[in-house]
Amino acid sequence: LLKDPVDRIIYIKGARHPSIPLPCDLYQPERLNSRGVHMDDAGTLDALMSRMNQPIDLIAPQQISTDTLSAMIANAQKAFVPWSRMSVDNRAAILEIWADLLEEQRETALQILVKEANKNIFDAINEVREAVDFCRYYAAQAREQMQDIILPGPTGEQNILRMDARGIWAAIAPWNFPLAIFMGQIAAALVTGNGVIAKPAPQTPIIGKFAVDLAYQAGVPKDVLQFANGGADLGKALVEDARINGVVFTGSVPTARHIARSLLIDDNRPLVPLIAETGGLNAMIVDSTALPEQVVRDVIISGFQSAGQRCSALRLLAVQDDIYDNLVEMLCGAMDSLNICMPDRADCDVGPVIDKASYDKLMGYLETQKNNIIKSANVPKNGLFVPPTLIAIDKVSDLQTEWFGPIIHIVKWRRGGMDALIAQINNSGFGLTMGVHSRIARVTQRVEAQARVGNLYVNRSIIGAVVGSQPFGGEGHSGTGPKAGGPHYLSRFCVERTISTDT
Ligand code: NAD
Ligand code: ALA
Repeated sequence: LLKDPVDRIIYIKGARHPSIPLPCDLYQPERLNSRGVHMDDAGTLDALMSRMNQPIDLIAPQQISTDTLSAMIANAQKAFVPWSRMSVDNRAAILEIWADLLEEQRETALQILVKEANKNIFDAINEVREAVDFCRYYAAQAREQMQDIILPGPTGEQNILRMDARGIWAAIAPWNFPLAIFMGQIAAALVTGNGVIAKPAPQTPIIGKFAVDLAYQAGVPKDVLQFANGGADLGKALVEDARINGVVFTGSVPTARHIARSLLIDDNRPLVPLIAETGGLNAMIVDSTALPEQVVRDVIISGFQSAGQRCSALRLLAVQDDIYDNLVEMLCGAMDSLNICMPDRADCDVGPVIDKASYDKLMGYLETQKNNIIKSANVPKNGLFVPPTLIAIDKVSDLQTEWFGPIIHIVKWRRGGMDALIAQINNSGFGLTMGVHSRIARVTQRVEAQARVGNLYVNRSIIGAVVGSQPFGGEGHSGTGPKAGGPHYLSRFCVERTISTDT
């Protein structure tokens, strides 16, 4: 089920075109990239998997101390000046080379993603593609947006609005998109002329180091982008350093709040922007006119792809009462057909979760819910496999916590109760993704008008936002904006300066 074709779009040198809707499409384009390398090593997924399953040494990069971090920031401050003065065209070209290099070395990236982050091949391919898309999209956006704008004024006066870099950014990434989100944050900061101290999640430093090394090969000076490997304590020291001029963070709500507070502790520190993208209690509303087979497919994809470890993943399925029993029966059947296994197999639908801490937390929660579990899929005995699970709840407010795994809660609603249902979902205060399945336009329009979410999906799955087509990010507890992969993202990395001259 999770192998169903998903239409994706990939950026090729800033121009959009639809890609082949197969997991292995990254291997099919026959073309020269901007470095003149022929991208034609097409092959079947099986051939790819056998290459992927060759042994690879995963060497964890060294963790750094806070003293080293301090020296890194000092070096970045010096390197920032010439970098910010380089033409935007040059910086954008470097980003494009970074994307090309990643495409050329994608099999190594895929191998690391599968082995370090427990991604199945489908998710790993999509992640590499998203990272490439971010670089090319932000390069194209920067070329357009970093130009001076001449503004009107009285005769004898010239007014110019200029976008300039802010300085040194802290880029702090989560483990669940350790390449795409990590590179997206860095690419946006770099192309707008900033320096970056990039901290990966402690679970996934190897893919982060790999990406940064490719950036150096692409031409990013080593002091402009520095890799700060470490955990929460290092992240804390980084954001508390008053020389940091902006923070771009993706992760959990508690960490975002912690960072927001840290930025205000020192009264002498300038006010700096925080871009925080966090979690969600994402719902899908299904009415009795929806196509059941399509709903089942989209629920399975939204809730269980990536083992539910996506901020966008489905957490709450709200089904109209008259189709509830039928839909539950179909969902249980679909859950039985999931292939739950280690992610190094081409046919893996759901792999293990990221680490033991996450496994224990999710299994502990399932234990508390055992009387409400409708269905729990069978999983292999060995390994960190959390069973894809469907849990019945009585009311929307019974779900208060983002359980970051393959767990869907299901609730019934009655005819005439749609507005109240949307209000209850909005009341959670989260606002990341939402879905609606209905064949009545009036119903989908009602949800559109009332849903307080950043990304609303109608009659489709609620995951897999595409760079440049579906700018991604939430509101409320789910994030500050601006949306990643959208046209307003880069401006947050800049200061705007108005220069008025008497001519
Ligand atoms: P997390 O908040 O535990 O960690 C995220 C990053 O913050 C890590 O690099 C971590 O080391 C660092 N960190 C932790 N404490 C810090 C502190 N006090 N100061 C500075 N940095 C600190 O999140 P996670 O478990 O890595 O990721 C999963 C979470 O991310 C989920 O809640 C998920 O919904 C969210 N997420 C959101 C999006 C989005 O775009 N909205 C995308 C992916 C993941
Ligand atoms: N951007 C990712 C998605 O849409 C998190 O699933």
